Amino acid sequence: MARIIGGIGTTHVPSIGKAIADGKQNDPYWKPFFSGFDYVHQWLAREQPDTVVVFSNDHGLNFFLDKLPTFAVGAACEYRNEDEGWGIPVSRPVPGDPALSWHLINRLVGDGFDITMCQDMLIDHAVTIPLSLMWPDFNWPVRIVPISINTVQHPLPSMARCLELGRSVGRALVSYSEDKKVLIVGTGGLSHQLDGKRAGFINKAFDTHCMDRLAHDPEALAQYSILQLVELAGAQGVEFLNWMAMRGAMPGEVGELHRNYHIPISNTAAATLVFENRPRAQRKAA
Ligand SMILES: [Fe+2]
Repeated sequence: MARIIGGIGTTHVPSIGKAIADGKQNDPYWKPFFSGFDYVHQWLAREQPDTVVVFSNDHGLNFFLDKLPTFAVGAACEYRNEDEGWGIPVSRPVPGDPALSWHLINRLVGDGFDITMCQDMLIDHAVTIPLSLMWPDFNWPVRIVPISINTVQHPLPSMARCLELGRSVGRALVSYSEDKKVLIVGTGGLSHQLDGKRAGFINKAFDTHCMDRLAHDPEALAQYSILQLVELAGAQGVEFLNWMAMRGAMPGEVGELHRNYHIPISNTAAATLVFENRPRAQRKAA
């Protein structure tokens, strides 16, 4: 069966890709952020996942405001990156894991999630930048299953619904017959707002609150409405929905291994969080 090794939450700001392309990782502005990935590199080298399930939001590369699925699951053999105009080099295609994708799709629909299934899907910076941060030599040694959550066009799915989406994915992974190690990734956030009167809004207290509770009490976070999330995290801080799904997809005992939080990266609060997912202790027979 698939074994879920853990989860990583990470920002996906486009300017990170430009900083990587320009070799600015050790510049004073960038070093506090990039150094937060030293632990991630060591952990991934040790754990060596085979497949990454990535929860992220599309930024207009596949879906625009005219048609925007609430949840979309990739089922392609490979995922191409295309130029989005941020000055980021276009990445090489990333291999998919279509057999696992279809297993997840079947289980998600069986659980009542009316997802959109995508046999052709592009990946944007919300996927390629986290991959570049996790494996900075660009030799990404994994297959991916991208799952897109609408964080753009209201009405958005609720925090509780995204947690449940993740839980459905976690149950599906545990029931998968093929032996493989799976990493769960949620990208985006944390607090930020790019437009309107509150442009530049960052809420460190709320970000800390979310990171403190995500491992052990995600249900408390699931109580926040989308309106409250917009107020507390900013209009684009709602990308935390991807982190909620990531947390939900870990059905075991979840513990925090590493955290980095840095303000600002391109007007956002940039966070990195690593969770381990240990199998739950077997109950002794009575
Ligand atoms: Fe984003």
